[in-house]
Amino acid sequence: MRQYGNEIQLYPGSDGKVREVILAEHAGFCFGVQRAVDAVYDEIGRSGDIYTYGPVIHNDIVVRDLEKRGVRIISSEDEIDAVNSGTVIIRSHGVSRAIFEKLSNKPGIKLIDMTCPFVQRIHRIVDSQSRSGKRIVIIGNVGHAEVVGHMGWSVSPVDVIETREEAEAFDAPPETPLCIVAQTTFHSKKFEEFVAILNNKGYNNFYVENTVCNATGIRQQEAALIASRVDVMIVIGGKNSSNSAKLFEICKKECERTYFIQSLEELDLKLTPQDRSIGITAGASTPKNIIEEVQRYVGTGTDI
Ligand code: F3S
Repeated sequence: MRQYGNEIQLYPGSDGKVREVILAEHAGFCFGVQRAVDAVYDEIGRSGDIYTYGPVIHNDIVVRDLEKRGVRIISSEDEIDAVNSGTVIIRSHGVSRAIFEKLSNKPGIKLIDMTCPFVQRIHRIVDSQSRSGKRIVIIGNVGHAEVVGHMGWSVSPVDVIETREEAEAFDAPPETPLCIVAQTTFHSKKFEEFVAILNNKGYNNFYVENTVCNATGIRQQEAALIASRVDVMIVIGGKNSSNSAKLFEICKKECERTYFIQSLEELDLKLTPQDRSIGITAGASTPKNIIEEVQRYVGTGTDI
């Protein structure tokens, strides 16, 4: 496994021994989330009312801050109908074709589409492969906004597989042409495992694109690597963020004492004199200032 440019800081403990705090290089906002959040903040003060379609990120702190600045969240076709002016921003998760068209065709509103280009690519695959007659299978979390968006670009019904059991239970005639893609934030090893299960069923027209985003894969790999060598691991992320929950699951496997927190206030860190190294990573929706706060606290605000 490759090594990452993780930030390692050393702090002297009161017993004269050194404590190591390792911050994962790819902790926090990915490129797609960063550009969507920046777009929302940039728009404040520029135009009239500002809306995001769904919360721009799964982080209560940022969402509350945006709310205070007047940014409102809409999340249904009825709510789109009620908006007659202002700006609507589509977050990095993207939306279904129906929602996209409704927003694009609505007079009086300015639409800013911040769908991550990697997510847009999946929309294009789903659109073209379903048009060519393939049955679309999305490996991802049922009901996740990104998955709902992908489903909405297919011209035919879509199957979503979230668990091994569902992959095993998948049943379609062997001649069915399949196109399999992944939710960008899905666990890449599980994606491969589920694809292998489907492949073993003997479909002869089988198109697979591993669309798990590189940012997620790298974040997951480096988190596992750090968690495997530290005494205590901290995962920072929103409670509704599936990629943060996955990071926690991965770290917990490697390091029993893994904490999952949304912000420093939630951290109830119990260190022992044997704890010499602490790792930190964060999900894609965690702002930099929250990560730095935890990093500072772990390095200087605790004592062994
Ligand atoms: Fe885009 Fe990957 Fe982030 S798909 S939103 S850069 S996790």
